[in-house]
Amino acid sequence: MPQLFDPITIRDLTIPNRLWIAPMCQYSVTARDGVPTDWHLMHLGQFAAGGFGLVISEAAAISPEGRISPQDAGIWNDEQRDAWRRITAFITEQGSVPGIQLAHAGRKASTFAPWGTDGQGSVPIEDGGWSTVAPSPEAFPGYAVPEALDDEGIDRVVDDFRAAAVRSVDAGFQVIELHAAHGYLLHQFLSPLVNHREDGYGGSLENRAKLLLRVVEAVREVLPAGLPLFVRFSATDWVDDGWDEHQTATVAAWCAERGADFFDISTGGAVGGVRIPLSPGYQVPFAAHIGSTGVDTSAVGLITDAQQAAAIVADGQAEAVMVAREALRDPHFALRAATELGVEVAWPGQYERAKPRT
Ligand code: FNR
Repeated sequence: MPQLFDPITIRDLTIPNRLWIAPMCQYSVTARDGVPTDWHLMHLGQFAAGGFGLVISEAAAISPEGRISPQDAGIWNDEQRDAWRRITAFITEQGSVPGIQLAHAGRKASTFAPWGTDGQGSVPIEDGGWSTVAPSPEAFPGYAVPEALDDEGIDRVVDDFRAAAVRSVDAGFQVIELHAAHGYLLHQFLSPLVNHREDGYGGSLENRAKLLLRVVEAVREVLPAGLPLFVRFSATDWVDDGWDEHQTATVAAWCAERGADFFDISTGGAVGGVRIPLSPGYQVPFAAHIGSTGVDTSAVGLITDAQQAAAIVADGQAEAVMVAREALRDPHFALRAATELGVEVAWPGQYERAKPRT
């Protein structure tokens, strides 16, 4: 079995270790819509300097209406692409791999940033919000009612993902991840709790998966053959008769047939009022289950310590581990984990004098 600090090669890309940064929205765009700022350079750059092998950006919107909040970063125009270049260059210089999560928030778009004092739920149109879209005209609790996407709207979503992938590659990203989790647009189509369409995009699993599969095909078509395509799934809605790990495994296999390479396994987010049984590593069994069906996965969720992360990879429960909140507490968690595990890794020259000696 590979170990946490062993490299992994996916297509032509070698990622130097298997301890990765999960995507994290920062709600920190200021002057220009969707353009990442110095905050994003600092936030993502610190993880690259901190020894993580892959650093995935926040959910970057593929279109203005795909943003979760007006402060989200995006990748729908050239100005945004150019601003990301500085960030990908920095991550690459540190020996890490820059990844981007491409996202459309669907009915969970146009909301206030979570910690803001401006308000909660949907931003009114007169205050800079926008009307949202979804598979069906049903609101997420506390949010505005979305419009159901028609065929033309669905085609536009596919085109926007494709164009965003082209710009991402031009911006220097080497991993492209599609956000099909947490109740955002692609997951809204997948989940029978949210998708109540009666056309070719609703009903059967094949139909609910059609939008995601079209996006995988469109993005794969424009990606260089050597670059990997990831998909983030919520493996369960945590609700009976909702989306679950069996449907996830089937659709992951369909994605793999169309050129997706790796599956980042999370859970939840499609509907409100759900109690999730949280405990350390609570989502790892889902990554292990999807992985056991023959695709490569990463695990995420309440993974906070070096031994725990190392065991997940060494036991073959997942190929890699993603970390979010623990990395906010300690951006150099990967360097610390290597020390704790007795693995020799390079530290940035600037920090060399702080490296523990054994
Ligand atoms: C997140 N998460 C998240 N997930 C995602 O797919 N796209 C995103 O943009 C975000 N944004 C985000 C912001 C912040 C501040 C946090 C803390 C989390 C979820 C994240 O990637 C991860 O799956 C969960 O946080 C669980 O992992 P941890 O935090 O227990 O390591």
